[in-house]
Amino acid sequence: MKIDRFENSTNDRILENKIALNITINGRLYSLIIPPTYRLVDLLRKDLELTGTKISCEIGRCGSCSVLMNGNVVNSCLVMAYQANGMVIETIEQVSQENLHPIQQAFLEEGALQCGYCTPGMVIALKSLLDKNNQPTEEEVLDYLCGNLCRCTGYNGILRAVQRYKNESSAIFDNKTLE
Ligand code: FES
Ligand code: FES
Repeated sequence: MKIDRFENSTNDRILENKIALNITINGRLYSLIIPPTYRLVDLLRKDLELTGTKISCEIGRCGSCSVLMNGNVVNSCLVMAYQANGMVIETIEQVSQENLHPIQQAFLEEGALQCGYCTPGMVIALKSLLDKNNQPTEEEVLDYLCGNLCRCTGYNGILRAVQRYKNESSAIFDNKTLE
């Protein structure tokens, strides 16, 4: 695994008080020296240029900044970067490295986005749910998405996308069973 080292030198005053951390992000181990005031979302967006993770409310209400930390969905605006020391972080960039994830494809096919601002966080949350349970009920989906707000879609497109994903993944399963 590649180890990257860099030092943020944008603000010498803040860096008088530094924190070192090792963190795996999208399969890559980074050794970093950061200001103690950095949130995880700042590290991702400002320093690593992983701008797929969005910032909106900044107070843990909207889920735009959702990432996976050791496999669990967290709001990266509420996690201090030093709290992610030793953790494994996955962002939306990891979800679609080569091809779109099937849930992203389903979003496109069902028109499950309008402005798209909430979409990376929605996809992260849904991927986490579908990895555990690929045939969730509508109630389970809505329950899982309670931390992800969308101001545009009314959620119907999102629910249709999950239904499409479920139909397609059960068809794949049926075909495998028949082989
Ligand atoms: S920006 Fe983090 S929850 Fe809204
Ligand atoms: S599509 Fe605009 S906030 Fe969800």
